[in-house]
Amino acid sequence: MSHADLATIRHYHRLSKHLPERYAPGPGQLDWKNQPNPFRRFAGSPLLPLPMARHGGLRYRQLYTPATAPQALTLEALGALLELGLGLSAWKEIDGSRWALRNNPSSGNLHPTEGYVVLLQALSPDMPAGVYHYAPHEHTLEQRAIFGAAAIAELQALLPGIPALLGLSSVHWREAWKYGERAFRYCQHDVGHATAALAFAARTVDWPLHLLYGADDNAIAALLGLDRNADFADAEHEAPDLLLALGGDPDDYPERLGISHLQAVLADSRWQGQANQLSPQHVAWHALQQVAEASQQMGGWPTVRLPAAVAAEAASTDDNPDAVMTIRLRRSAVSMDGSSRLTQSQFRELLQRLMPADTPPWQALPLPPAVSLLLFVHHVQDLAPGLYLLARGKHHAERLQQQLRTPHLGWQAVPGYNVPLFCLSHNTDWRDAAQLVSCRQEIAADGALAVAMLADFDATLSDIGPGAYRSLFWECGLLGQILYLQAEAAGLSGTGIGCFYDDLLHRIIGLDLEEEQWQSLYHFTIGGREEDRRLRSSAAYAHLQR
Ligand SMILES: Cc1cc2nc3c(=O)[nH]c(=O)nc-3n(C[C@H](O)[C@H](O)[C@H](O)COP(=O)(O)O)c2cc1C
Repeated sequence: MSHADLATIRHYHRLSKHLPERYAPGPGQLDWKNQPNPFRRFAGSPLLPLPMARHGGLRYRQLYTPATAPQALTLEALGALLELGLGLSAWKEIDGSRWALRNNPSSGNLHPTEGYVVLLQALSPDMPAGVYHYAPHEHTLEQRAIFGAAAIAELQALLPGIPALLGLSSVHWREAWKYGERAFRYCQHDVGHATAALAFAARTVDWPLHLLYGADDNAIAALLGLDRNADFADAEHEAPDLLLALGGDPDDYPERLGISHLQAVLADSRWQGQANQLSPQHVAWHALQQVAEASQQMGGWPTVRLPAAVAAEAASTDDNPDAVMTIRLRRSAVSMDGSSRLTQSQFRELLQRLMPADTPPWQALPLPPAVSLLLFVHHVQDLAPGLYLLARGKHHAERLQQQLRTPHLGWQAVPGYNVPLFCLSHNTDWRDAAQLVSCRQEIAADGALAVAMLADFDATLSDIGPGAYRSLFWECGLLGQILYLQAEAAGLSGTGIGCFYDDLLHRIIGLDLEEEQWQSLYHFTIGGREEDRRLRSSAAYAHLQR
């Protein structure tokens, strides 16, 4: 990685920190007339409606087992995958304003993440091999490009046994409109959440989803048509994030997929459609634009062999809800009751799910695990309240033990768990601290537990390269999506917390503020949701009347 890129990333990371006395630069107040449209559309692209997912198949816990990959990809499977991964979950309404929620959560519900399908073979006479954009409001694919015979042959040779790729991109402006410079971080969290949501959704239709690790950012942009400037003339550009392969054997995926490998494909593709403009005017956030440039990944991603899953506790079938319903019912809590607790077996299962494993969702991001979890335990059955640490990566425990240096914290392995859990502070009330570091948000104190995600920042940037600045947030997003679904399955709710005082947390746990070897990149809370009874809800797709 060049010194200039590293300097840009470090500068951005510092500038985008919230401190109690100074928040990261942002717009101050919201410019409602420029609120970005959450729905991207491509005018002139033919539309191909998709079927909805059917519930009553898989149980929730089966989501964490490997899929087998059926013989052929069907329209039903693709429809279910996109709905449960990126589709709408409900509409909410209050005082005349109405907004959609989605199965993938998003910071501020702004939804910067766009989804694409690259079909390597025809799914039906109406749906030839080509590139499609997913329109969640209509649950429809928009046909962006059709591949000719030469393009199909080339892609099938490059990607044997893969019927389709899923692509993700981000409209940074959607988050920047509200959050200014810090928005780049939230876009990356959202990519992580969407990746996990897609991996679980794919599992409901028995398709494995793996990172196409060789693809670099220019190749992703070219394949998805994001670099076709004329198609985005007045419209906000989308930054390439990642490509995920449905099926195939990851050992056969190309080590390197650069733009030069796609020349024959691009030469034999016919494009259509014009992106819509999402806001009439834009504000440029310069550090965000610079870090987006500096954190591109140009050599693909180094992957690891994931370990077999830690054996999860046997759970009774009546405690194992329907997978599709659990995904659709996931909601963020805006307020928590301060009393609900996790049972001991729910807590154990949660810890096990958070460990890296060769199952969904980790197969979709098989990078070296770089994030460990600091747990503010408030109400967990048979566990003293206090501060705990779940060590997820190689040597994390030893290294963190040396780095978390304050006189008031200890380091004691907690016996009886089949994951590396350590107690840092025993029988102590961390509710006020959890709330304070989470920008004083009460949900961090009123849950059963709160989490701060500690990333092995310095070492991962030097091992993986500049793209690690994005993949660290993606890993946090995957962890967040597991926390959301585990909470839902336990009859509780989760909430992602992107607003936190970075260095206050670091100071409290004794991390050196100058070195930035470990950085907290995301917070989370799980607890008993208090409903806002003023809000009215309606069904996700009542407006389609198909
Ligand atoms: C990356 C991320 C950061 C978030 N940060 C906060 C936060 O700081 N405070 C909060 O109350 N909710 C936060 N949320 C929750 C979102 O507001 C919520 O996901 C969104 O409104 C959509 O609602 P849903 O999750 O119920 O679909 C965050 C969500 C994500 C994914």
